[in-house]
Amino acid sequence: MAIDIQVNGKMQSVETSPQTPLLYALRNDCDINSAKYGCGQGQCGSCTVIINGNPVRSCITEIGSVKGNVTTLENYKNDRVLSALNKAFIAEQAAQCGFCIAGMMMSAKALLDTTKNPSDSAIRKALNGNLCRCGTHIRILRAIKSAAKELQA
Ligand code: FES
Ligand code: FES
Repeated sequence: MAIDIQVNGKMQSVETSPQTPLLYALRNDCDINSAKYGCGQGQCGSCTVIINGNPVRSCITEIGSVKGNVTTLENYKNDRVLSALNKAFIAEQAAQCGFCIAGMMMSAKALLDTTKNPSDSAIRKALNGNLCRCGTHIRILRAIKSAAKELQA
């Protein structure tokens, strides 16, 4: 059946079943490559997108349950917070393989959208479900703090 979803402000029609994971539809039908398949079980955060302001694991979210716009990293040029995060992650070189980074940035965006000047512990808590095998956590933390600072300027 055809299921309509809004991705980064654009309506798209996807031919699939309502039980299909949102991640599959994003990657296979909507030209979205930032969200990654890591664990497929909601445990690593690499597939994180934002729906209605909340970071959501798209690998365990059925497309039929999606109500509202899905924001992904592809929208960074139109989003002040994502733009600041993108710039800061590059400046801090906060990636090695980069597999986890889009998910990290989406969780960070959800935090910075509601908290202007988060403490280290608030950032750690917000990103607790995002895993990085390469161990760039300190740089990621620095990048998020730097983006927060820029957004306040
Ligand atoms: Fe979705 Fe790991 S792939 S949480
Ligand atoms: Fe490689 Fe995070 S940079 S998993």
